Amino acid sequence: MDKILVLDFGGQYNQLIARRVRSEHVYAEIKPYNKITPQEIQEIGYKGIIFTGGPNSVYDEKSPHYDPAVLDLGIPVLGICYGEQLMAYMADGEITSAENSSEYGKTEVYVKKNVLFDDVPEKSICWMSHTDYVKEAPKGFEIIAHTDKCPCAAMCDESRKLYGVQFHPEVTHTAYGKQMLHNFIFKVCGCAAEWKMENFVDSSIAKYKKELAGKKVLLALSGGVDSSVAAVLLHKAIGTNLTCVFVDHGLLRKDEGDFVENTFGKQFGINLIRVNAEDRFLSKLAHVTDPEQKRKIIGEEFIRVFEDEAKKLGKIDVLVQGTIYPDVIESGKGDSAVIKSHHNVGGLPDVIAFDEIVEPLKDLFKDEVREAGTQLNIPHELVWRQPFPGPGLAVRIIGEITKERLDVLREADAIFREEIANAHLENFTNQYFAVLTDLRSVGVKGDARTYGYTVALRAVTTDDFMTAEWTRLPYEVLEKASSRITNEIMGITRVVYDITSKPPGTVEWE
Ligand code: XMP
Repeated sequence: MDKILVLDFGGQYNQLIARRVRSEHVYAEIKPYNKITPQEIQEIGYKGIIFTGGPNSVYDEKSPHYDPAVLDLGIPVLGICYGEQLMAYMADGEITSAENSSEYGKTEVYVKKNVLFDDVPEKSICWMSHTDYVKEAPKGFEIIAHTDKCPCAAMCDESRKLYGVQFHPEVTHTAYGKQMLHNFIFKVCGCAAEWKMENFVDSSIAKYKKELAGKKVLLALSGGVDSSVAAVLLHKAIGTNLTCVFVDHGLLRKDEGDFVENTFGKQFGINLIRVNAEDRFLSKLAHVTDPEQKRKIIGEEFIRVFEDEAKKLGKIDVLVQGTIYPDVIESGKGDSAVIKSHHNVGGLPDVIAFDEIVEPLKDLFKDEVREAGTQLNIPHELVWRQPFPGPGLAVRIIGEITKERLDVLREADAIFREEIANAHLENFTNQYFAVLTDLRSVGVKGDARTYGYTVALRAVTTDDFMTAEWTRLPYEVLEKASSRITNEIMGITRVVYDITSKPPGTVEWE
């Protein structure tokens, strides 16, 4: 299968570039610039290379540089933003920096006739974000685009198939960016469009049928998208040799545990063990109010419960992990501060004896996991499920977690979700839920004075959950949810709507 390499120089859009290439049905993978040599690039046989942008200046000694030999491999290269400047620098061009020529935002760009700009009009809008720019194109290069401020908005050396653009074709604000990437991938690199989810699903099933034949395979199923897709995929490959353990920690949303059991155990006929561990978790969490401690306790207890279950199954040959591609990329970097210690099943390999780990989704982006899920006939509501944190409702209850408080929250959350569904707003907001605060306030129900909990509703709009806007939900929907919550749930006297964006807030309250 043809592959494009996205060589990462620290740009904020590197994942986006790879996703854009893949949406053209060509496989793209991201590698940090200091983790692969030109020789390795050649050996792997990439059909094309894209240099990403980056926040640096090429004349700064500490900025990421790369071996110029990459330009002589005979493999087409497209440099984007910093990537273009680096390409010019490596080929002895001149880069300059001038405050008054920096460009940011939507900018008119004028292009010349060139294969990179096939089906792109002479004048269109592109997205710029730079201070430095290529002042003089290197020898052998021709300038093929400009803006009012930037004399070299794009350049190329057609004989060596080297291209550079100062703007960002990968962001949707560049009107013809998709077309330009399409031209590079197919017309310059000559790739074949072979990366399709139905092929991925079929070939993965065939591969695991062979590789895992006769092996005893174990998977921790959470009911989230990734583990669900991994479970169904492997079930298709190895049937009853796969056992899924679903730990119900009692911190799930209303009816969620039964839904997971019905879908995977009954509908798909997967060998599923549901462990009802509510009591174990609640007794460990009794009187705990600190969010980080809650996460830690839940993470550890999850491992203990899973371990106990695994022991009952005897020797395990293979453990399946639902790792996806962004996890792989991030783990190759990461020294950013831990804001919240996210609970996942990463700790499992340390406590269970097994011979091998299999990560069937490790090459897929989230949208590709969803597409694979659709190919596998997993119900739409599961494939498109909003994210739900591993520690569950524990991080949506401020203060102490008790069965009674969990039940109150479950009801409020279910009403809110129901009203969002009634108004057909599931796709208008990316995550929405209720939070039970520890604030009590006075209310009046009938003629009586009440003193009950305050529930907060939260809905956010986001692409990546790293930053988020609070969703502007229609007042009528908020009103309906509020009135139902206070009327139908004893013990709740007040409903508030959270209008904090992230940053400074986080999505979850704890
Ligand atoms: P925050 O609250 O960090 O949330 O802005 C960003 C996204 O991550 C989810 N989240 C978690 N997911 N374990 C998880 O698996 C956790 O401990 C956790 N905390 C937050 C949150 O729901 C949102 O989608």
